[in-house]
Amino acid sequence: MSIPIVRTVMELRSIVSAWRREGFKVAVVPTMGALHEGRLSLVRAALERADRVIVTLFVNPRQFNNDADLAAYPRTEHEDAAKLAPLGAHMLYAPDASQMYPDGFATMVSVSGASEGLCGAYRPGHFDGVATVVAKLFLQTGADLAFFGEKDFQRLHVMRRLTRDLDIPIEIVACPTVREADGLAMSSRNLRLSHVGEHEELCGSYAAARLAEPW
Ligand code: PAF
Repeated sequence: MSIPIVRTVMELRSIVSAWRREGFKVAVVPTMGALHEGRLSLVRAALERADRVIVTLFVNPRQFNNDADLAAYPRTEHEDAAKLAPLGAHMLYAPDASQMYPDGFATMVSVSGASEGLCGAYRPGHFDGVATVVAKLFLQTGADLAFFGEKDFQRLHVMRRLTRDLDIPIEIVACPTVREADGLAMSSRNLRLSHVGEHEELCGSYAAARLAEPW
């Protein structure tokens, strides 16, 4: 069993158009790979709501605050594809940087308000990079539904604001956080933790405490 891997926008659009002609509902699960049970739970949720599920895999250089962090980010496409195939996901869209940011690329999407404070205060420009790449993935896939974990609470709000403000016709579906036995939220970056309590988990807890924030 294997999952088709698509690398170009042109091929992606031609497959999605064929699905549309069949009347299929399409979902997208944006990821940077290194898939763990948390991300796989998003894929399962997407399969319950849609006829066709695209998982995207792109390690987005524009959302990293430094080159060392980008270089250290785990790249495990082969293993990711092997985890997705048995679930029944329909496509792994894994474009390279030249597809996402061709020569002369000059447009950034910036979501004020929701991107400020919390993790945004520690990672200047991070949410601009996330908003830009996700807007592109939404427009490239033309999906009806997009699945995100509640773990990245601030990102979820950035996504909701982005789609509302730009009238992107996609429903943002939030899924519950999946945790390790000791309570740590699952994250691809956990591979790099020496012990529990690093920045990302702190951001998540702080964000959860501010659930009532009127974004
Ligand atoms: O959380 C991630 O994996 C990334 O921020 C995302 C949403 C795939 C955009 O690159």
